[in-house]
Amino acid sequence: MGFAELWESLLTVGGDAAAGYRRFTWNDAELECRAWFRREAAARDLAVEEDRNGNLYAWWSPGGAAGRAVLTGSHFDSVPGGGAFDGPLGIVSAFAALDLLRERGFRPSRPVGIAAFAEEEGARFGVACLGSRLLSGEIDAERARGLTDAGGITFAEAAAAHGLDPALLGRDDERLGRIGCFVELHVEQGRALDVPVGVASAIWPHGRWRLDFHGHGDHAGTTRLADRRDPMLPFAHAVIAAREAAERHGTRATVGKVEVEPGGVNVIASRVTAWLDARGARDESVRETVADVRRTAEETAEGHGVGFALREESYTAVVDFNTALRDRLAAALGGVPVLPTGAGHDAGILSAHLPTAMLFVRNPTGVSHAPAEHAEPGDCLAGVEALATVLAELAG
Ligand code: GLV
Ligand code: MN
Ligand code: MN
Ligand code: MN
Repeated sequence: MGFAELWESLLTVGGDAAAGYRRFTWNDAELECRAWFRREAAARDLAVEEDRNGNLYAWWSPGGAAGRAVLTGSHFDSVPGGGAFDGPLGIVSAFAALDLLRERGFRPSRPVGIAAFAEEEGARFGVACLGSRLLSGEIDAERARGLTDAGGITFAEAAAAHGLDPALLGRDDERLGRIGCFVELHVEQGRALDVPVGVASAIWPHGRWRLDFHGHGDHAGTTRLADRRDPMLPFAHAVIAAREAAERHGTRATVGKVEVEPGGVNVIASRVTAWLDARGARDESVRETVADVRRTAEETAEGHGVGFALREESYTAVVDFNTALRDRLAAALGGVPVLPTGAGHDAGILSAHLPTAMLFVRNPTGVSHAPAEHAEPGDCLAGVEALATVLAELAG
């Protein structure tokens, strides 16, 4: 099956691109994607496995293939209202590249695998790249077990409902030891690429912080202004502070999610919880951005009689991809551009444990994490060709 047909076959699985996807780890939409993965793997006689952390693999290991595998792939899960490309492009391209290699009579000397990692966006349980963090031991298994979704279901409970043993979640050295390298193909996410394909140099330091403002619920009409302890006010100051700090430090800071309790039009809020996403080229600038937000939130919370706490939920230091591997891939692709990104990826997590690399496919508008996310069909085909070249280079 050609790339276009394969791509089309996934577009309608668990949503539609125009409305934006809500493919969250192990919800119906994401499970449909996993079923699609199993069907496509079976149609190609690939052996499917799910590891003890919920990551899926399809293995091509014809006679004679031995040693540590070359792994490619990405993730199915989306952000709320996500586009079609972030994640799935890497998986569909992997199947299409494998088809090309087979058509061309290529026989790998090492096993070649396609991976679909769990909870890359962290949209359900809050920590991005949770599947690859668990696999590589980059998150404490006990902490992961206790992460909760919006309905209060813990990751351990959800994993058990999915058929995994919660006690076995966590670092999997045996599996990691079977992987020689990982190459993730991904749509580029910021209009940083003006040719069809590029190779990643680095991922910016980035993290997530939770801000809790505790006030006092009361009547919107009868409570005198002087008597209020309204958590919305320091929250609003914190949002503006994030923007201003990002401008000062040359970083990116976003408050894209907030929960207000109890959430009544005529009720002064009793609690506001917000999440700050901060990223930048330099670790210190990201730290300074968060410190500035914290200071403003603390000061304004105090001024309004509101309790405040800030907690780091995750932090990923700068990822410099394996230089030898990235130079080898850029050369194999005829000298394509090498560029950094402000987006996080499983490849970034695994890079501390394995040689990893990323291929980017041009995004003409740069829009991502939104329904308008796009890559032109011709560029996607160039991505498949590039991935096939890279797999042949690494598994030949
Ligand atoms: C993942 O896509 C991220 O960068 O948030
Ligand atoms: Mn994403
Ligand atoms: Mn992604
Ligand atoms: Mn104020």
